[in-house]
Amino acid sequence: MSIYADEMRQTAQAMVAPGKGILAMDESNATCNKRFAKLGIPTTEERRRAYRELILTTPNLSEFISGAILYDETIRQSSQAGVPFTQVMQNAGMIVGIKVDTGAKDLAACPGEKITEGLDGLRERIAEYYQMGARFAKWRAVITIGEPIPSPTCIETNAHALARYAALCQEGGLVPIVEPEVLIDGNHSIERCYEVTDQTLQAVFTQLRLQKVAFDQMILKPSMVISGLECPVQATVDQVAEMTIQVLRNNVPASVPGIAFLSGGQSNQRSTEHLNTMNVKYGALCPWRVTFSYARAIQQPALEYWAGHDANIPAAQQLLYHRAKLNGSASLGKYDPAMEKQTVLV
Ligand code: G3H
Repeated sequence: MSIYADEMRQTAQAMVAPGKGILAMDESNATCNKRFAKLGIPTTEERRRAYRELILTTPNLSEFISGAILYDETIRQSSQAGVPFTQVMQNAGMIVGIKVDTGAKDLAACPGEKITEGLDGLRERIAEYYQMGARFAKWRAVITIGEPIPSPTCIETNAHALARYAALCQEGGLVPIVEPEVLIDGNHSIERCYEVTDQTLQAVFTQLRLQKVAFDQMILKPSMVISGLECPVQATVDQVAEMTIQVLRNNVPASVPGIAFLSGGQSNQRSTEHLNTMNVKYGALCPWRVTFSYARAIQQPALEYWAGHDANIPAAQQLLYHRAKLNGSASLGKYDPAMEKQTVLV
């Protein structure tokens, strides 16, 4: 058992505390720059820093955000006033998280498929991040649906890497967020997405068990079971909620404290509606807390409003706070679409 077991159990519970979710703001420099470029924002280290400061200093964000996942560049940065972001977060009552994978690369001999890298030197990096104040970590595996993929090779190698990462995190005191993302891209049906998500989760939990990962000291970050973006028949919100909860109940041990979904390219409102419906209809059946760990579905309105201009920061922060609040409500099954229109003072 890890010497950090008690601390990690408490951290995991706090990450999914009632009414709260986890903010993903761990875009790599390449991804962040791509999003900046679309909006004409200079793709510099300083603008990335300024944007992350905007997020982390949003007043009262911790009412709905338990913690945030940072990128390696961000965890080493400070506010304009010179306060390290880790300290800014701790002062605001948010737990520091860190993305530790180094990205999804082409999987040898498996055209169109990816394997996530980052295991080399991970023990040492975890020790450094813990020293810096991080208390949880994230690793994202990517599963693509196509014809005839995903291959068993892709599912098994990614599950194996996720479990190696999770075991190393727990050894070093970081709660692992285990993120197997089944991509939304493609024209597949929701039934096909269910089948692939089921296979993936089975493989992931088999590996987690084999590699002695403590389920009560981790968080699962899955994608929802959903129709492919180009599928002519789009499943309803009720279908997504039903099939997502079903696949999770079939695979996720009750001792996992929480499930925190990624948004994966769904619209902001749809991500919130799906989460809300899961909690309204099936909350009582779920042994784990069901919440969010969105990036785009929380950040996008704020990023677009800010557009790189410091004068826009207060209004952009209100937009961020509002999306966090809507998702916090959805995590309790208390969201109503009418809340979308609540006045935001921009
Ligand atoms: O790894 C992906 C992020 O943590 C979640 O991002 O909500 O934009 O899909 P997303």
